[in-house]
Amino acid sequence: MNIGVIGTGYVGLVQGVILAEFGMNIVCMDISKDKIDMLNRGELPIFEPGLKELLDKNVAANRLRFTTNIKDTINSDVIFIAVGTPPKDDGSANVKYVLDTAKNIATHMDKYKVIVNKSTVPVGTGRQVTGIVQQTLDACGKETDFDVVSNPEFLREDKAVRDCLTPDRIIIGTTSEKARKIMQRVYSVLYLNKTPFLFTNLETAEMIKYASNAFLAVKISFINEMALLAEKTGADIQQIAQAMGMDGRISPKFLHAGPGFGGSCFPKDTRAIVDTARQHGEEMMVIDAAIRANEKQKQKMIHKIRFTLSESGDLSDMTIGILGLSFKPDTDDIRDAPSLDIIGGLVDAGAHIRAYCPEGIEAAKGHLVHIGHVITYAANEYQAAEGADALVLVTEWNQFRGLDLQRIKQNMRGRFFFDLRNVFAGRPELVAEFNYFGVGR
Ligand code: UDX
Repeated sequence: MNIGVIGTGYVGLVQGVILAEFGMNIVCMDISKDKIDMLNRGELPIFEPGLKELLDKNVAANRLRFTTNIKDTINSDVIFIAVGTPPKDDGSANVKYVLDTAKNIATHMDKYKVIVNKSTVPVGTGRQVTGIVQQTLDACGKETDFDVVSNPEFLREDKAVRDCLTPDRIIIGTTSEKARKIMQRVYSVLYLNKTPFLFTNLETAEMIKYASNAFLAVKISFINEMALLAEKTGADIQQIAQAMGMDGRISPKFLHAGPGFGGSCFPKDTRAIVDTARQHGEEMMVIDAAIRANEKQKQKMIHKIRFTLSESGDLSDMTIGILGLSFKPDTDDIRDAPSLDIIGGLVDAGAHIRAYCPEGIEAAKGHLVHIGHVITYAANEYQAAEGADALVLVTEWNQFRGLDLQRIKQNMRGRFFFDLRNVFAGRPELVAEFNYFGVGR
């Protein structure tokens, strides 16, 4: 089957590569010439474990190619729209690029197509896409038939390949029997492998994505709030989470207390569903509270570090080492990363920052350019600790778990260690050697 994928961001690129791996003929299109040139050179515009190998393999097998010309996708039976839906100032998702793409497809198409929306879009967008495609076809005097399907993506950055190769479920939102059968063929590998499929209508499929992300965000904010209380009462959040997770109805996943959720999905999608609800005269009180709790969590981290350090001196004389900038490990993505707020809050208090992240430095530099004069970037974790009065572990990269703590201690000027992911919480020998602060303990 010939498949076009429009948009080579995280979702589109991984989707294109995986569908090629499933034996489909894929053409990935993006308006960014830079990205397509990179892909044609065999380079990835994103850091994602395991993706490069599959890209090379499927390009070599002639099942995967890249283009900047949308017309190259028009021979496809199925076209995936996987373009960005960035948040507007009011928190609502901007679906302009999705609608523009739909119009573009309609302008060029001349035979039946399944137009599949992979981008995370507010409920109702699939209907809008249907309307725009029909209007454009009418305006061009074409009687071509088509169906629109919502097929949300649940991949996590850093585990994107695995999530797409072995997803928990595939959601197909359409009332067209013909489109349904075609989508079953697109995912025939997964269908035969007994991956659960849920067939539903457009609106339900669109809302499933937001409901899932919002629920996980609520779970994180919940445990973070518990962590704040645990700190005040002498309880231990890790044991609380462990015990809660033993209840099969709760599950232990997404119960790790930390500096707050970040990334390209949770912050954006929670705001977007609150906005969609508002437009429909409903208030998403639980999700709204999770968003506010997340903002508070980041501020609490800043406050704890500032308050603790100010008791032993003036922050403007201090250097703080930061370990981890990306919003989570194994990605170079720093979108809405808690590190950005935390660094901002410490710089506001006068501190100098020495930051290290295995993959996130280049992206962070762009976001922190306004405070570039007080930040230096280290080549490794030990350099980040050099002369530092305090060390703040913001992102739990695996390589930090094996830190040579004696070397860190020798490199530092002070002894403060703020472990915002509780990586070392179970290591009493570390707690004894540093002025150690975890989260929720
Ligand atoms: C998320 C969803 O998991 C995925 O299904 C969806 O398609 C896109 O959004 P992603 O943003 O890649 O994926 O990251 P995820 O691993 O879910 O983590 C999101 C944020 O929550 C990170 O900042 C992470 O540090 C934080 N988090 C996660 C916690 O603070 N505690 C946890 O227990 C889990």
